[in-house]
Amino acid sequence: MVARTIIIAFLVVLTYLSVTNASNITTDEASLLAFKVHIASDPNEMLSKNWTKGTHICNWIGISCSKKHQRVTSLVLKSFGFRGSNATDIGKLSFLNFLDIGNNSFHGQIPDEIGRLRHLKYLYLQMNNLTGQIPLSLGFLTRLQVLHLSENRLFGNVPLSICSVSSLKDIDLSRNYELTGSLPNEICTNLPVLEYISLQDNQFVGELPKGLNKCTKLEVLSLSYNKFTGNLPRDMWNMSKVRELFNRWNNFTGT
Ligand SMILES: *[C@@H]1O[C@H](CO)[C@@H](O)[C@H](O)[C@H]1NC(C)=O
Ligand SMILES: *[C@@H]1O[C@H](CO)[C@@H](O)[C@H](O)[C@H]1NC(C)=O
Ligand SMILES: *[C@@H]1O[C@H](CO)[C@@H](O)[C@H](O)[C@H]1NC(C)=O
Ligand SMILES: *[C@@H]1O[C@H](CO)[C@@H](O)[C@H](O)[C@H]1NC(C)=O
Ligand SMILES: *[C@@H]1O[C@H](CO)[C@@H](O)[C@H](O)[C@H]1NC(C)=O
Ligand SMILES: *[C@@H]1O[C@H](CO)[C@@H](O)[C@H](O)[C@H]1NC(C)=O
Ligand SMILES: *[C@@H]1O[C@H](CO)[C@@H](O)[C@H](O)[C@H]1NC(C)=O
Repeated sequence: MVARTIIIAFLVVLTYLSVTNASNITTDEASLLAFKVHIASDPNEMLSKNWTKGTHICNWIGISCSKKHQRVTSLVLKSFGFRGSNATDIGKLSFLNFLDIGNNSFHGQIPDEIGRLRHLKYLYLQMNNLTGQIPLSLGFLTRLQVLHLSENRLFGNVPLSICSVSSLKDIDLSRNYELTGSLPNEICTNLPVLEYISLQDNQFVGELPKGLNKCTKLEVLSLSYNKFTGNLPRDMWNMSKVRELFNRWNNFTGT
């Protein structure tokens, strides 16, 4: 009796697992078609003529698939003049590692669902009209190397969770004008491979943390046009790799 109950429970769990994992190229296609529905303007008819049921999804414009598993790994729809508001369905492309929808007119918030893309390494959402706060869920993207959110209308505090994504090399949050927060003290410990960070044209505040020289790979640090205060830490001057440091228009003293 007990054994039977256990076996039944086991089967129930198995069924559950197979249902929740039932994603394949067909579900990728359904997700992209759902995403397409939310694109209100497609001036060059890029998607309306190309993303069609008759053609294999891996031949659609902007899509690349993995050879081995035939799953969508890359979505590049840069500079297509799209206007859209809801990219939630992209969060279901579970094998995506490269997402670039930069330089369009996507508005609304960055969907939390982007944080489900556990394979994502490159996230380019720059030059759109995205608003709201940067979602905490981006901190779940443990393989992320590039995060470009510049030139949108994002505001509020940048979630600390982002500073725990230790794979990040390149962070660009510039020209949102209303992002705020300060640089955490642990930045160099938590982001050991950071090479580029731009926070330019925002409302970042506070003093720069000591120990910035521990960011040994850092090459560009762009802090201009914010509200940083205090002294520039001495150890900043011997960050051996930094070739560009922009810190105009802050309230640093003694510079
Ligand atoms: C994907 O999975 C669905 C249901 O789980 C199935 O009906 C479909 O045939 C599968 N597609 C491919 C290409 O394997
Ligand atoms: C869609 O675009 C791709 C890439 O430009 C092209 O190879 C393909 O033939 C196009 N498909 C259709 C149906 O127009
Ligand atoms: C942005 O996209 C437009 C087309 O929609 C293009 O003309 C322009 O060159 C692009 N700008 C950049 C910086 O890529
Ligand atoms: C975005 O689209 C998804 C599915 O296509 C839907 O469930 C969700 O309610 C939409 N969100 C908004 C804010 O319209
Ligand atoms: C962004 O949104 C604002 C306000 O809704 C609008 O005036 C502006 O034209 C939009 N810009 C782009 C590039 O879509
Ligand atoms: C940078 O400064 C630290 C102490 O502030 C020192 O230990 C280190 O040797 C210096 N490195 C260089 C390259 O000057
Ligand atoms: C920065 O300095 C300007 C003038 O030097 C002052 O008006 C402003 O209030 C200061 N801002 C902060 C955040 O300290």
